[in-house]
Amino acid sequence: MGSNEAAGAVIRIRNFAHPISVARKILEEIPHLMLSGKGAEIFARLMGFKEKSPDEQHANTDNREIEKLPEDYREFVRKYSKLLAEQRIFSTFGAVAINSKGHIVARASTGGMSYAFPGRVGDTPVIGAGTFASRSAGASATGLGEGILRVGVTRKLVELVEGGQVVQEACD
Ligand code: GLY
Repeated sequence: MGSNEAAGAVIRIRNFAHPISVARKILEEIPHLMLSGKGAEIFARLMGFKEKSPDEQHANTDNREIEKLPEDYREFVRKYSKLLAEQRIFSTFGAVAINSKGHIVARASTGGMSYAFPGRVGDTPVIGAGTFASRSAGASATGLGEGILRVGVTRKLVELVEGGQVVQEACD
């Protein structure tokens, strides 16, 4: 991203140690921007990324638990909405870097969110929500993805900074 608006993203990729590197390969190798699930994993294998050994794999315990839930949707929502509101468990990491030529890149990776409904997609892989960079600024978000997605937080931040706001003001 940054100087040429190039971007790559993966969603719901399991058991690869470096999903951001897989996302970068998407940017470099194919005319798509985002791959998800099995397709993303097949692409990662084709690109030579190695899957973690069974010892290193840690299945998302919360999803395992969710798969065992009774088929009572309302009960699910009641139980997990409460947990979500209380716990807000995330595992997101983000970074923005600038090189000696002034090119800016932003990246982000996440394990998602505990107690989410299966199939939930958060902000992290969505360009302009969880991560964004332009020629002049970059941003990477952590926190509750639903809010970040609604506002398109990182794109908004970058636009505010481009418009002359100092970074802290834009963040506030
Ligand atoms: N920011 C991480 C997520 O909501 O999935």
